[in-house]
Amino acid sequence: MSYQIHKMNEKITVPKLQRMAKAGEKITMITAYDYTMASLIDEAGIDMVLVGDSLGMVIQGHSNTLPVSIDDMVYHTRCVAKGIERAHLMADMPFLSYQISHEEAVSNAGKLIKAGAESVKIEGGEEMADLVWYLNKVGIPVMAHVGLKPQSVHIMGGYKVQGKTTKDADVIINDAQVLEEAGAFSLLLEGLPMEVAQKITETVSIPTIGIGSGPRCHGQVMVIYDLLGANPHFKPRFVKNYANFHEVCIKALGHYISDVREGMFPTEEHSVYRELQMLEGGGKQELTKEKGSKKSKRVKHESEK
Ligand code: KIV
Repeated sequence: MSYQIHKMNEKITVPKLQRMAKAGEKITMITAYDYTMASLIDEAGIDMVLVGDSLGMVIQGHSNTLPVSIDDMVYHTRCVAKGIERAHLMADMPFLSYQISHEEAVSNAGKLIKAGAESVKIEGGEEMADLVWYLNKVGIPVMAHVGLKPQSVHIMGGYKVQGKTTKDADVIINDAQVLEEAGAFSLLLEGLPMEVAQKITETVSIPTIGIGSGPRCHGQVMVIYDLLGANPHFKPRFVKNYANFHEVCIKALGHYISDVREGMFPTEEHSVYRELQMLEGGGKQELTKEKGSKKSKRVKHESEK
C-alpha cells in the first residue's frame, strides 16, 4: 500500500469543490469530532471534513444518531474547527433540528456556522427542497444526504441499501435532481447500488460524495474510526481499514499497564522535581524546577541579592 502526505495550501471552498468535480478530480472526505484528529486529517490533505452526527454512535455510544442534539453538534464543530486550516468544514444537522420549521432550521444551521462550519448537511429528498432553498437564501451552503438516511432508521427497519428496485431508484434520482435545482451545492449518496449512484453522478452537475455506493461518485466519505480500524467488530462491506488502530491502541495500553505495575514508568528520566517556595516579603509564591535532585533549592528574593 503506498501513501503520501498530500500537502496542499489552497483553501477548499464550495466553488473549489464544484470545480474539482467538474474537472474529474476525486474529492476526499472524512468525519472528525475533536481538535487533535481534525489537525491530523487537515495535515494529511483531506478535502472535506464532516462533523457527522455519527458522533452519536462513535463518541456517545448510542446505537443510532437520533439522540444527538444541536448543542452536541455545536460543541464538536467548535472543537474540530480549531484543528482545520485548509479543508472545507461541514457539520451535520441532527435529527429534529431542521424538520420542525424553516425558522428553527435556519437558527440551528446558523449555530453550526457560528461554531466554524462552512456548510451543513441535511438528510432527505424532494421534501427538503424548500428548506435547501431557504438556507441558501441566508447564505448557508447545503449538502443533501439521499439514499440510506440514518435518521430514518426506524422507517427503513435498519441500515438497508436503498433504491434496489427501479421504482425506488427513480424516486431517489428525482430527489437528487430536485435538490440540485433547489440549490444544494453537493449530494451525499449513501447505501445505493453503484449503478444508481453512477446515474445520479452523471445526471447532476454538483459533486456527489458516496459511502457504500460504489466507485463512480465524485468523491468518497468514511467515518474516521472505520478508516483507522478502531472497531474490529464493525466491518461492513463498504468499510476499508487503512490501519489497525485497535491493535495499536491495545498493545500500547498493555505496555503502559505493565510498565506502571512493574515500576518501569515513570522513571527519574520522566520526572521533574517541583517545589513551592514561600518567599519572604509578601508571601509571593514561585516554582523552582531541578531535574534529578530531591533537595530543596530556595530561590533568593530580589532584596537578598
Ligand atoms: O454522520 C456521518 O458520519 C455521516 C456519514 C455518511 C459519513 O453522515
